[in-house]
Amino acid sequence: MYRSHTCGELRISHAGQQVTLAGWIQSIRKFGSITFTDLRDRYGITQLVFGEELNEQLSQASLGREFVIQAKGLVRERSNKNNNIPTGAVEIAVSSFSVLNKAATPPFTIQDDTDGGDDLRMKFRYLDLRRNELKRNLELRYAVNRSARNYLHEKGFMDIETPFLIKSTPEGARDFVVPSRMNSGQFYALPQSPQTFKQLLMVSGYDRYYQVVKCFRDEDLRADRQPEFTQIDCEMAFVEQEDILDMFEGMIRAIFKDVKNIDIPGKVERMTWEDAMWNYGNDKPDLRFGMKLLNIKSAFQKNGKLEANGELIAGTNFGVFNDAETVVAIAVPGTAEYTRKQTDELTEWVKRPQIGMKGLAFIKANSDGTYKSSFDKFFNEQQLKTVADAAGAKPGDLVLILAGTEERTRKAMSELRLEMAERLGLRKKDEFKLLWVLDFPLFEYAEEENRWVARHHPFTSPKPDQIRTMIGNSPVIENAAEYLKHPYANIKANAYDMVLNGNEIGGGSIRIFQRDLQEKMFDALGMSREEANHKFGFLLGAFEYGAPPHGGIAFGFDRLCAVLGGSESIRDFIAFPKNNSGRDTMLDAPSAIDNQQLTELGITIKTPSA
Ligand code: AMO
Repeated sequence: MYRSHTCGELRISHAGQQVTLAGWIQSIRKFGSITFTDLRDRYGITQLVFGEELNEQLSQASLGREFVIQAKGLVRERSNKNNNIPTGAVEIAVSSFSVLNKAATPPFTIQDDTDGGDDLRMKFRYLDLRRNELKRNLELRYAVNRSARNYLHEKGFMDIETPFLIKSTPEGARDFVVPSRMNSGQFYALPQSPQTFKQLLMVSGYDRYYQVVKCFRDEDLRADRQPEFTQIDCEMAFVEQEDILDMFEGMIRAIFKDVKNIDIPGKVERMTWEDAMWNYGNDKPDLRFGMKLLNIKSAFQKNGKLEANGELIAGTNFGVFNDAETVVAIAVPGTAEYTRKQTDELTEWVKRPQIGMKGLAFIKANSDGTYKSSFDKFFNEQQLKTVADAAGAKPGDLVLILAGTEERTRKAMSELRLEMAERLGLRKKDEFKLLWVLDFPLFEYAEEENRWVARHHPFTSPKPDQIRTMIGNSPVIENAAEYLKHPYANIKANAYDMVLNGNEIGGGSIRIFQRDLQEKMFDALGMSREEANHKFGFLLGAFEYGAPPHGGIAFGFDRLCAVLGGSESIRDFIAFPKNNSGRDTMLDAPSAIDNQQLTELGITIKTPSA
């Protein structure tokens, strides 16, 4: 028996017991002839005390950090207790010990405030995983996993595995492909999600399916994206949108209760996609704070036509606003006192290439009722007040204004809104705001390809009352600009996303389940019947053999964990993640394979010419 207790287990009630512990040496301190070490394992830290009689053995063993040892001894009360750890009232008076394995000096300290940089910690991930922070994250991940599984099991969902070596599934990203040795020159694709399989399972009659499953997408990486990530993937038959929203609100409610002991009262708030875009400039608004985007263009009409409060702003002549397609404002609470330096810095912030605006205008709605702006030359105080009122400013607020083209300006303002919230400490990690975003457009216009693409994926059904629009219209459009006028632009999907604190943590839809409508959808996406049959013949075929109405959703498991854990980065919640270039620096993958493997696969590598 290597141990009788773990390093996190002993309390004052164990005093007087003989125990055996095993673990890693966190630290060693010598006081005169006595040696203290902290012994660590997954469960905690316990102080070991080595008396003088063990000194010779200690010096032979030359213990160092991260050595794995076993120690036997008596549990006794500590004279100087450490109230910061659960085992802090006791220590082990060691009677004997043995070194189970030596350790090289670790490349960084394995402590909460480690001295290791990101790259080093990724390379030695197995050491980083010994640290409390990552341990807590993985524990949270497991708790979420368990809670979701329990809930789904109780609701009659069956966990069914689906294959990884498949044919491409279109979820909007590039596929990772795997060459087949037995079918030379041919490739499998790794699934971007089990989408088509879960639909086939509905056709097979497994009306409640789930899987905690890896998905693979070759796309540009960000803090909330990994090339392989995990979904809690679910599908149900004989359901309408409302049934799905209800079922999965329930799941999230259970997870919050089990993992965070937080009750989510009432129904989760809902917002249409259009309202989200209009009021927040993006489809995953963070509702922990206000600062809605307000279109104040009307306050700047040329020739001073009408305006907010019905007042006239005549002849302001401020071209930046007058000539812009849109003028959008947010009222930032309590920041009217920002200094020149601070507003200059914000201006630089919006000019960064990632934001891409030419400049930032502002009005200070001072607490004393006066108004100052960055465009005082053009506006008198009364006019400033009118604009500030139109932007919803209260005394003490700073109104930030961006002008430009509709799409870019709203997007930039949505970023600025988040940035201001961050600066004001309004994005609190322990506050959670859930939201359903509903009624997404079915199609999206892909400018580079000059065609419609599915906003969610091609298996998503249009709203029932809009199916006619789809059936009645030819998808062939010559001129790019025509797309926006095309009736397709207004078709809404039976699709929904769940948003938590400004993160899209899940998304799904009610599916098409009739062959003819699915074919129509492929038509709309510019796919020939031949291509549709080649790619999705299996699904179209299945729809002919009694496909039930069905729908589902997939949650981004890593993202859900990261948000619950109060982190921006999903990497911290994945045991062995990839870095931002999609590399595993610990394994040094991806890497070249040897010639024999290539030959077997019938692959020749063309090295790009210099
Ligand atoms: P979707 O593509 O919206 O839907 O994915 C579902 C959820 O998965 C998470 N997610 C990611 N997480 C980490 N890294 C990534 N690269 C990544 N991409 C997506 C997000 C997202 O909300 N088959 C459909 C679901 C359905 O219709 O049922 C699908 O995969 O949190």
